[in-house]
Amino acid sequence: MEWTLAYTIWSCISLGVVLLLIREIFLVSDKKQLPPGPPGWPVIGNLLDLGGALHLSLASLSKKYGPVIWLRFGAVNTMVVSSADAAMELFKNHDLTFADRKTNEAMRLNGLYQGSISLSEYGPYWSMLRRICLTELFSSKRITDTETLRANCIEKLKKWICEEGQKKGAVEIARFAALGNFNVILNAALSKDNFLDPQSNEGTEFFRSVSRVEELVGMPNVADFFPFLQWLDPQGVKKKVERALEHPLNIATGFVKERIEWKKGHLTSRKDFLDVMLEFQGKNGEPTKISEKNISILIMELFIASTDTTSNTIEWAMAELLRNPNIMRNVQDELDQVVGQNRKVEESDIGKLHYLQAVVKETLRLHPPAPFLVPRRARENTIFMGYSIPKETQVLVNVWAIARDPVSWDDPMSFKPERFLNSSVDFKGQHFQFLPFGGGRRICAGILLAERILHLVLGSLIHSFDWSLEDGITPETMDMSESFGIALRRTHPLRAILKERRCR
Ligand code: HEM
Repeated sequence: MEWTLAYTIWSCISLGVVLLLIREIFLVSDKKQLPPGPPGWPVIGNLLDLGGALHLSLASLSKKYGPVIWLRFGAVNTMVVSSADAAMELFKNHDLTFADRKTNEAMRLNGLYQGSISLSEYGPYWSMLRRICLTELFSSKRITDTETLRANCIEKLKKWICEEGQKKGAVEIARFAALGNFNVILNAALSKDNFLDPQSNEGTEFFRSVSRVEELVGMPNVADFFPFLQWLDPQGVKKKVERALEHPLNIATGFVKERIEWKKGHLTSRKDFLDVMLEFQGKNGEPTKISEKNISILIMELFIASTDTTSNTIEWAMAELLRNPNIMRNVQDELDQVVGQNRKVEESDIGKLHYLQAVVKETLRLHPPAPFLVPRRARENTIFMGYSIPKETQVLVNVWAIARDPVSWDDPMSFKPERFLNSSVDFKGQHFQFLPFGGGRRICAGILLAERILHLVLGSLIHSFDWSLEDGITPETMDMSESFGIALRRTHPLRAILKERRCR
């Protein structure tokens, strides 16, 4: 029996390898038109060219081979875009061709990608989800209508941070920012108040699971490179992702079920995002209904997409400000001038806080939470910048490398918010040297909300508290190392000491 299983496995693997070799031989004739790239080995392709941190290894390959390079990870053809010009060409002239997502095994688990906006294929289901999100959750009007809810969440956040500072001396900024941001989206989408607080085990478990999911989804998985191994799941990634997803998905499913029950006994004219999703009736070829499972997946996705990106950015911004005390002072001076001593930072102040805006941009330039945009996939054979790109090619846009490219930026490695003062460059997808939210049709759907959250949270933390580093750490000795996953996090969470400045 054991022998038969081993024999079957080896037969499948050998057959897969042979098929890959045949495919390569047939592709040789086309190779002349592909973008340049390192040669690669038979079957495994360029897997050995990849270091631990993909954004770094692909940036260094691009320095050698150019802004558009070609790699093969096992069976996965990959084009990597690493310059502003190439990104402009992609988003301006080829956006539709590359509008599909390339999903991996972990993302395809349990139909996850079918219910999600960020992972679903470009098509009617994606457009419908995106339209509902943009009109019911992320439009300027909706965002303005929910301003008070965010203000309450920020007040709670400041209170928690203050209590933690008094209890423990130093505060782990990202943990609190993530809790606050989770509650913001919960409030906006589901009209629920402060579900997570620092004492709740739910919170700790939620963020632990989300980090684990991100780690697993970003981890190289041989089953992605050699599809004939998918059934075997040799690294056990599917099982691990399934386990890690259980908690966040249970939270989302719990909310959806609770609302379905509630609606049975209540009629209400005020509908929030969840009501709209549950009552949705498609027209003109759209699905007639969105299933309960897909609504839960979408809610979970919104929690994940919003909390980690924003809390990461706030943590990096605070780290840069603590490393550059003169820049911190400039932000505080501006807040004192615009907001003054006797009231709190409000969203209506953001337009006048030019220096704070520049700090947020500079943070997103040097530390984009997603170093690569969510991978795209070619929907058809196409000619891109003179190269023949086959259908199904995975497209990686290295926004981390583009935002540090000396061709586009002076002194690119330094944190200098001043570069954005008196400059029209912003992150809305039209300035291709700066794409932390992506571009084209699949640009971040939550960009307007993210913009508000980032300025409001960062502005409030700096307006209300004086911040300093823990004993023994100086701006010169601060650890600024980053760990690569699908999100670029600080290797060591930032801890900082705070002192209250004024009324919270
Ligand atoms: C600092 C904050 C954030 C950053 C830097 C960020 C970045 C990104 C990036 C790079 C993408 C992929 C874009 C592309 O492929 O071109 C994306 C997609 C997405 N983001 Fe964000 N994001 C942030 C916050 C948020 C928030 C607050 C939400 C919602 C609550 C959100 C929801 C989404 C969704 C739904 C997508 C999928 C869009 C699609 O595929 O159509 N993001 N985001």
